[in-house]
Amino acid sequence: MIDTIAITGATGFVGAALTRRLAAAGRKIKALIRPASTHKRPANIDVRWIDGDLEDTESLRRLVHGADAVVHCAGAVRGATRAQFNRVNVDGTARLVKSAVDQNPTPNFLLISSLAAREPRLSHYAASKREGEKVLVEKSDKLFWTVFRPSAIYGPGDRELMPLFHWMKKGFAPILGSGNGRFSLLYVEDLVDAIVLWLDRKSNPGCTYELHDGQPGGYSWHDVIDTVTHLRQGKSVVAVRIPLVVVKLFSTLNLITARALGYAPMLTPGKVRELRHFNWVCDNTALNTATGWTPKILLAEGLQRTLRWNGA
Ligand SMILES: NC(=O)c1ccc[n+]([C@@H]2O[C@H](COP(=O)([O-])OP(=O)(O)OC[C@H]3O[C@@H](n4cnc5c(N)ncnc54)[C@H](OP(=O)(O)O)[C@@H]3O)[C@@H](O)[C@H]2O)c1
Repeated sequence: MIDTIAITGATGFVGAALTRRLAAAGRKIKALIRPASTHKRPANIDVRWIDGDLEDTESLRRLVHGADAVVHCAGAVRGATRAQFNRVNVDGTARLVKSAVDQNPTPNFLLISSLAAREPRLSHYAASKREGEKVLVEKSDKLFWTVFRPSAIYGPGDRELMPLFHWMKKGFAPILGSGNGRFSLLYVEDLVDAIVLWLDRKSNPGCTYELHDGQPGGYSWHDVIDTVTHLRQGKSVVAVRIPLVVVKLFSTLNLITARALGYAPMLTPGKVRELRHFNWVCDNTALNTATGWTPKILLAEGLQRTLRWNGA
């Protein structure tokens, strides 16, 4: 029986949604929080906050102590160098896994990785997520572990995809290059449902699962534009094609500036390679079979909920 749940990344987009849901269900939660976090901590919920950092082993021991399950949502999603991503996504994960392994009994461990881990050669982010999975798998004899590899996630609180959807709501769709790739999407509350089921149902140990919203074959940018056009009650959305050479140049300049000024950039040449990748489509069959999880929210409803759509 899972009683106490330890969460990392509870101030972030995914972790906050999970923490709010579990707290609303009256679950016992311990959550790691960095004293210097720039995110607001979820308010008015009953959580035992543990000051610390993935770089601080002692705080991770305190977090994991007495926990029946660990859900590791913290991650570096922006960065200028491989070292910046590795420090959190690989070394931080290794420290947390070690803290879990050192407990007796050991807690169940869920790593929120990313579909990007499927293509580690594309970017430092993707490579670090794959490496982070490996450090968990290496402890497979000591832990009941699971890896979730979600596709791109969106919903309230998202800071990566939502600016793009806001532009689309206004009638403009910036499209990178030919925009020919296909990709899966996942509404954040569906991911939270999957995590809750993982907590409460005995699934197979030592498995890696892909997750998306269930749209067969995923989406193309044309599909997304069609969905938004429908939500705009037929008012068209203009696709504004941004030439690849412009995006590559801008991302390179952004990377150089980030390294010089010391901020963590989102748009880098690695991110452009991720965005241009032709196949980010995934399949839910394995997770559905293991836990019974079925996502409920497709893009039109997800955008309506997120953007509080009342027509354009
Ligand atoms: N968003 C997506 O589309 C997507 C898709 C697939 C997979 N994922 C994965 O899902 C996870 C959560 O992503 P997200 O979108 O929620 O990211 P996010 O909003 O940027 O949140 C990241 C979280 O990680 C925490 N964190 C970062 N570095 C840390 C450190 N050194 N020590 C402790 N905590 C640290 C942050 O804490 P602070 O508040 O202190 O910064 C924050 O709570 C990540 O592992 C990401 O790779 C996300």
